[in-house]
Amino acid sequence: MRPLIEIKDLSYTYPDGNVALENVSLEVEERDCIGLIGPNGAGKSTLLLHLNGILRGSNQIQVDGLEITAETLPKIREKVALVFQDPEHQLFMPTVYDDTAFGPINLGWDKNKVNWQVDLALQEVDMLTAKHRSSHHLSFGEKKRIALATVLSMKPKILVLDEPSSNLDPKHRWEMIDLFKNLNITKLIATHDLEMVSTLCNKVALLNRGRLKAFGPAAEILGNKDLLVSYDLAKP
Ligand SMILES: Nc1ncnc2c1ncn2[C@@H]1O[C@H](COP(=O)(O)OP(=O)(O)OP(=O)(O)O)[C@@H](O)[C@H]1O
Ligand SMILES: [Mg+2]
Repeated sequence: MRPLIEIKDLSYTYPDGNVALENVSLEVEERDCIGLIGPNGAGKSTLLLHLNGILRGSNQIQVDGLEITAETLPKIREKVALVFQDPEHQLFMPTVYDDTAFGPINLGWDKNKVNWQVDLALQEVDMLTAKHRSSHHLSFGEKKRIALATVLSMKPKILVLDEPSSNLDPKHRWEMIDLFKNLNITKLIATHDLEMVSTLCNKVALLNRGRLKAFGPAAEILGNKDLLVSYDLAKP
């Protein structure tokens, strides 16, 4: 059986000539939780942006049996939910409700189902009381939680998260980690939060300067102190 996500020899250069990814190959199996780690500028966010076709490098990426092409993008985006590192990129509607309902409405769900899923998603991120507030008046951490709710409300098959735990207070960071733990779907998480990775992930991929340096069982990679130190991921 083919893996759920198959990335083959992905290379990407930004228009200004910055080479962000070079020949990255990665396979994600159904129910994997993969921690994507690496120092600043390693290419983590760039890689994630390829998984729902926001960026298109020289590559073939296959998701759930579909190759990512212009034609398959709408279907790919139903399967793969991406939460950006910066919540400002995710929130554009007048209220928290509108932002969280946007995806479900686009999927054509009826009003009752939309409202039910919005409430559920907002409850999951502990933001139900903010439902009728303007997203733009929220704190950065609160925006991060709403950004997550905007994709949870669509019940995605694959969750792709960029730094989901950064800027959260300790209580909400742990609540979010617990939430991910209880979500029985495939996850790919780019992060510097190695404690979160060790709590959630079965596999770890380590990127450095656009290249995949290690990919394997989380315990093995997180337990390799020399490897982590050599890529500035642990204190020497
Ligand atoms: N829009 C852009 N235009 C040009 N270069 C970019 C752009 N975005 C990112 N880069 C470059 O691509 C490389 C990879 O960046 P990326 O944001 O993917 O790294 P990252 O691993 O997510 O880092 P961080 O841990 O800081 O979030 C870096 O050298 C970065 O400077
Ligand atoms: Mg990043």
